[in-house]
Amino acid sequence: AGVFTYDPGFTSTAACESDITYIDGDAGVLLYRGYPIDQLAEHGDFLETCYLLYYGDLPTPAQRREFEHAITMHTMIHEQMARFYQGFRRDAHPMAVMVGVVGAMSAFYHDSTDINDPKQREIASRRMIAKLPTIAAMAFKYHIGQPFVYPKNELSYAANFLRMCFAVPCEEYKVNPILARAMDRIFILHADHEQNASTSTVRLAGSSGANPFACIAAGIACLWGPAHGGANEAALKMLEEIGDANKIPEFISKVKDKSSHIRLMGFGHRVYKNYDPRAKIMQKTAHEVLGELGIKDDPLLDVARELERVALNDSYFIERKLYPNVDFYSGIILRALGFPTSMFTVLFAVARTVGWIAQWKEMIEDPSQRIGRPRQLYTGSPQRDYVQMSKRG
Ligand code: CMC
Repeated sequence: AGVFTYDPGFTSTAACESDITYIDGDAGVLLYRGYPIDQLAEHGDFLETCYLLYYGDLPTPAQRREFEHAITMHTMIHEQMARFYQGFRRDAHPMAVMVGVVGAMSAFYHDSTDINDPKQREIASRRMIAKLPTIAAMAFKYHIGQPFVYPKNELSYAANFLRMCFAVPCEEYKVNPILARAMDRIFILHADHEQNASTSTVRLAGSSGANPFACIAAGIACLWGPAHGGANEAALKMLEEIGDANKIPEFISKVKDKSSHIRLMGFGHRVYKNYDPRAKIMQKTAHEVLGELGIKDDPLLDVARELERVALNDSYFIERKLYPNVDFYSGIILRALGFPTSMFTVLFAVARTVGWIAQWKEMIEDPSQRIGRPRQLYTGSPQRDYVQMSKRG
């Protein structure tokens, strides 16, 4: 037996070297390939963020055209795959459907995906970035009992996604550019976040040489949990449950009573101990979207703002360095765009796919890459002899 360091939650273990995303949790800094998240959200768009994360630099105009063309070429899914949905219960959680359908992509692209061939790695990655919105929109349409809407490739990534979600037959659907911009920004903000739980899951699954589509399905499964991507859904449910700013003090005292096991969802982060730079952009975007939709007073936004104010002045949250994270305001925007809470984490998965696949590629191309194989500190029984049934009990 060797001597191993015990590090529950991996708070002090670096599992890899990475060039992709930098976070300074104390200063509230998030950089994708060196570029600050607020500049990308303000001036860039999601497709060029995908290019940046995957290839390491912002695209030139020619690279951008080639990439955009390739992504739009791959937005359709195999018609056999569209039939998968019918096998699910209509009331299945869309994240359950996502785990299944994305995992099933490995059955369609297994023989053509040699992970040792850079060209095939690239095609598999582009397929994933292109098809995830289609798969997610179909999960939504199936969930609400409407026919699927196929991709329209002259639209932007975000506008095409909104159309696939909200267009209905026999009615013209025009994408509102301000709402498409908000969707695009939400995708940018969620695109990567270094070695979080789902990304580490994708890397670990991929370290065995598994099919990349199956690895992304593993990442989606991990993202689903309420401590990770599921927090946006949980945060909005919490705001709805509180319902009124008057009920905030009562709710906060429940959170502070540890026996209640209630957490303030959308608050706190393993790495950010000052503020989450994504939360600020989200809050601003929430105002823009509500303004565009003419929603003057969203009671949930009032509850959210007041909850943030109360928590940021309460010693419990101050001492533990708990601040709003990316998920605190995202739910308000997504709800205003027309998504039910059950879709929130699905949208996170669409955005994070590029991060997962960029990290997967980096891992595969890393010459020091070995299968991920943590060790343990065994705390069970010492060796003992088998006891016959007649001598037990
Ligand atoms: N509400 C109330 N108390 C909290 C919260 C919260 N949201 N988060 C942490 N704490 C307390 C926790 O009880 C503990 O207190 P004590 O020291 O008295 O035992 C202390 O703060 C440290 O918490 P921790 O669980 O050790 O911290 P962690 O780094 O393991 O957890 C976290 C990070 C994000 C899982 C956690 O803050 C949390 O559960 N937040 C709510 C869920 C959430 O919003 N998640 C989204 C994260 S951002 C997007 C993403 O990653 O997907």
